[in-house]
Amino acid sequence: MLLVWKDQFAVDNGVIDHDHKVLIDRINKVLQTLTAQPTAEELLKDFYSLRLHAEFHFKREEHLQALAGFPALAEHAAEHREMLAELDALLEELEALPSAAPVLDTRKKKAFLYYWFLHHLLDTDQMIKPYLEKLEGSHEAILERFSRSQKAG
Ligand SMILES: [Fe+2]
Repeated sequence: MLLVWKDQFAVDNGVIDHDHKVLIDRINKVLQTLTAQPTAEELLKDFYSLRLHAEFHFKREEHLQALAGFPALAEHAAEHREMLAELDALLEELEALPSAAPVLDTRKKKAFLYYWFLHHLLDTDQMIKPYLEKLEGSHEAILERFSRSQKAG
């Protein structure tokens, strides 16, 4: 079963939602690959692509949270690090296999992905919604200004 975006997942009707939709696409790609009896190499490729976007997204989300004065910033950032560590543990497991080895135990990996993402989206990120609503202007423009000021500073 693939993940499907629902309106109730919305956090900011902006960049965060966009990122979450990309995450759903990348998770779905992993889920599809898992269904097709992949080799370790094939599955790793999809997982790397998911990890790349997850890391990028978590950073953007943390910047916006800081700018919006979200009080549970440190806890949320710790949860992001924990999520990446969980993903890395799974990657290490796959990296230890010969690249042509078939991947077994796909059910556990699928369950991990559903939980990994839905928990983030449905529980944790919903908490930031009221804070992000207070930010004036487009979140994309805010992030652009923020990254320019980081580079300048
Ligand atoms: Fe998020």
